Amino acid sequence: MKQSAKIIIDGKTFELPIITGSEGERVIDISRLRKDTGLVTLDPGFANTASCQSSITFMDGERGILRYRGIPVGQLAEHSTFVETAYLLINGELPTQKQLNRFSVMLNDHSVVHEDMRAFFENFPRWAHPMGILSSMVNALRAFYPEILERTEEEEINISVTRLLSKVRTMAAMSYKIFRGHKLVYPRHDLTYAANFLNMMFDSPVRPYVIDEHLVQALNVFWILHADHEQNCSTAAVRLVGSAKVNLYAAISAGICALWGSLHGGANQAVVEMLSQIHANGGDMAPFIARAKDKNDPFRLMGFGHRVYKSYDPRARIMKKMCDRVLDRVKGHDPLLDVAKRLEEVALKDPYFIDHHLYPNVDFYSGIVLRAMGIPLNMFTVMFAIGRLPGWISQWKESIEDPNWKIHRPRQIYTGPNERDYVPIQERD
Ligand code: ACO
Repeated sequence: MKQSAKIIIDGKTFELPIITGSEGERVIDISRLRKDTGLVTLDPGFANTASCQSSITFMDGERGILRYRGIPVGQLAEHSTFVETAYLLINGELPTQKQLNRFSVMLNDHSVVHEDMRAFFENFPRWAHPMGILSSMVNALRAFYPEILERTEEEEINISVTRLLSKVRTMAAMSYKIFRGHKLVYPRHDLTYAANFLNMMFDSPVRPYVIDEHLVQALNVFWILHADHEQNCSTAAVRLVGSAKVNLYAAISAGICALWGSLHGGANQAVVEMLSQIHANGGDMAPFIARAKDKNDPFRLMGFGHRVYKSYDPRARIMKKMCDRVLDRVKGHDPLLDVAKRLEEVALKDPYFIDHHLYPNVDFYSGIVLRAMGIPLNMFTVMFAIGRLPGWISQWKESIEDPNWKIHRPRQIYTGPNERDYVPIQERD
């Protein structure tokens, strides 16, 4: 039976269809509202607005559920690799062995970056943030790899997707090497995706990098946990920019810019900075908790809270366990992990955090994992961006293939001055 909601405006009743998703979620379809009533809706931050129908990722913030194409993220973290998960997100199904081999070969074939791009990398100021460099370089990819008219649209998309997945990882490592003033390390055909990244980051002519399969696996898990998260800020940016029919590189570059923000992907860097401050403060977290609760202070407990999760973020649970495993592996101890665990304990007992349903999110523990791997602080958000690529790509693809595709163009409610005349400059007070 078709369900509907009724809305009464100036005594007149309008019926709005209710659409039900495959997990039973119900939404009111307001797409005809303006046509029928002349009114639009106001929803700051789109907190109540579903901007699309999507079959990629399901999350339930109340029950702490996250699934990619129906498969729980915990199962993927345990059994899959990042490349296989990327295939799943982009193509909708897990690959057969043959498909996975072919995909891996294609990723390897596209892993090298055009030599002329090096000049760009080398001319960024040393202090430039790698996220700024990455978004610029991803946008520049279209200039170096222009569309080839002989290819079908599908071939062009497939090649751009593979290029992005493969080259972004190479460019991330390149920007780190250039930042350090070290010799570049090229991708190797005999290494897997994650192993190649670690090797490009840490191998050097004076100290060859010894690949540790445990760290490779941890990196796979890190990237799998970040691979998609339905309509978050950066994904919404990719879809919005993509809706104007720009090329894939430009849309992804917009997503990277959105991810850079400290309320989004930049939070992993901000968490480690906050934990370091608490540690430097002798471990006293009371002033930080007090500031986070003070309405007159813009400070927030970084790595806490989420627009959708109102219970423990399932990714944070896996990441927390991984901290101990990775630290054990590198035979290290990180005092910031002790600070993080104590901070979580204190916050989760505090009425403010309980009442506001604020729990650790994925960024709360991810920085500690990255630190243990030797990834420098300013590369943290880049690591997130590499992980989020399959999500951005699959959401972009779904959006351009949607038969109901529309350019994204929200409305507003105008609150400025009413019409008034232009005043010549000599007559102004
Ligand atoms: N510390 C203290 N208070 C918080 C926090 C926090 N981390 N997060 C939310 N709140 C409070 C707000 O002050 C607000 O309180 P009020 O209702 O009394 O005014 C209430 O909780 C709701 O907060 P909103 O900002 O309305 O929630 P929103 O859904 O818009 O924001 C966000 C979600 C941006 C993630 C927020 O929780 C936050 O700023 N967290 C810290 C930054 C962070 O960790 N970001 C990473 C998110 S995960 C990701 O992007 C990968």
